[in-house]
Amino acid sequence: MTDKIRVLIVDDLPETRENVRKLLQFELDVEVVGQAGNGSQAIEAARQHQPDVILMDINMPGVDGISASETVLKVVPMAQIIIMSVQSEADYIRKAMLAGARDFLMKPFSGDELTAAIRRVYDSRPQIAAVPANGSAQNNDSRSSEDSGGDTQGKIISFYSPKGGCGCTTVATNVAVGLALKGHKVVLVDASFQFGDIAVMLGQRPGTTIVDLVDRMDDIDAEMINSVLVSHDTGLEVLQAPPRPEMAEMVTLDYFEMILKQLSNMFDFVVVDTPSALGDPCIMALEMSHRVVLIAQQNLAALANIRRFFELMRQIGLDFQKILLIVNRTHDRFGISIQDIGDAMKRPVLATLPSDEFGVTQAADQGIPVVIGSKRNSKIVQALNQLTTDLEQILLKKERTEADGDSSSNERKGFFGRMFG
Ligand SMILES: Nc1ncnc2c1ncn2[C@@H]1O[C@H](COP(=O)(O)OP(=O)(O)O)[C@@H](O)[C@H]1O
Ligand SMILES: [Mg+2]
Repeated sequence: MTDKIRVLIVDDLPETRENVRKLLQFELDVEVVGQAGNGSQAIEAARQHQPDVILMDINMPGVDGISASETVLKVVPMAQIIIMSVQSEADYIRKAMLAGARDFLMKPFSGDELTAAIRRVYDSRPQIAAVPANGSAQNNDSRSSEDSGGDTQGKIISFYSPKGGCGCTTVATNVAVGLALKGHKVVLVDASFQFGDIAVMLGQRPGTTIVDLVDRMDDIDAEMINSVLVSHDTGLEVLQAPPRPEMAEMVTLDYFEMILKQLSNMFDFVVVDTPSALGDPCIMALEMSHRVVLIAQQNLAALANIRRFFELMRQIGLDFQKILLIVNRTHDRFGISIQDIGDAMKRPVLATLPSDEFGVTQAADQGIPVVIGSKRNSKIVQALNQLTTDLEQILLKKERTEADGDSSSNERKGFFGRMFG
């Protein structure tokens, strides 16, 4: 056995620390190098012991786990933080992620879950130091990774919902517009090749589409792609879906792959709106994506489909770590609770988007995405803006850039290391 993984346990309850220590005591590749009972002690212990992995309770008196994580990473930048919490709510997860945490364990967890998470974050530790995505380290987290020495490739982010009507296109469109308004170079790809509706949602006339690229595949380059994209007032570029359903099959898998690759060389973000029916192009887009935003609703049918989707993805070997679960059209008073959804799916819910029948539907009908419509103070717009900011930070985060590598590679790590089965 080579070097052991040096672990620091941080929890305000001594019995919890002891339980965690016991879960690890017979692991040959893991050594508990220290314990701390609060955030300040954690920072001191991290400085002293230089752990590889820190198991950090989120709720502690005084300096809480989130603030402690931020400070610890400045002291021991190579440490990988796993947050331990009884909460699966979006807000906690989001804050932990932004503080630089690499993984999340929901209490109570088993020894297997614990060691799997420790090995996963350890194996995936980047060659460069992790930095919090906000606070003083923000400078490192620049808009584009070009000037920070990271890869210059744009990030592909796909939106998918196994059940139609969950708001996949709505969310993808508004996030793409939001990213463009933040000054990024963004292209929105309508991958619903049969019944694409991005152009309608954006109030665009039918223009040149992906089909116009197809017969020119042999000499495809940035200039040719640019000539086919349709610009939106916000600066967003759009690759529209074929004008007629029967033309969908003209976009073969090879072509689509080539187009996505070329787009990721040209843009900071390639946002892909996928159809619910899983065809080969859709699966390929999910595989090529750095992150997949999976959209659920608070009803059994949507959740059952999400489960089936996970099963299928496991069979085809899609990397689960990059899936980010969100719930759209939420209601406070009815529907399955967000907590229950997170627990049932065994992964945190990154964001919830409230139902806004009037605002969203009206925006869609007017061809004006709700984030730039007249209801900018509404809850749905605020939630969409927050989601956009979170996705921006997750995707541009430097250590993730390193860890992501080739988006289509068999990455086995990341923040949301949740497993199924
Ligand atoms: N948060 C929301 N509140 C109210 N209506 C919504 C919301 N999100 C989406 N919708 C509506 O749901 C319908 C389906 O949305 P769409 O984005 O086309 O879903 P999908 O792409 O998953 O089929 C549309 O009429 C849209 O306006
Ligand atoms: Mg759609």
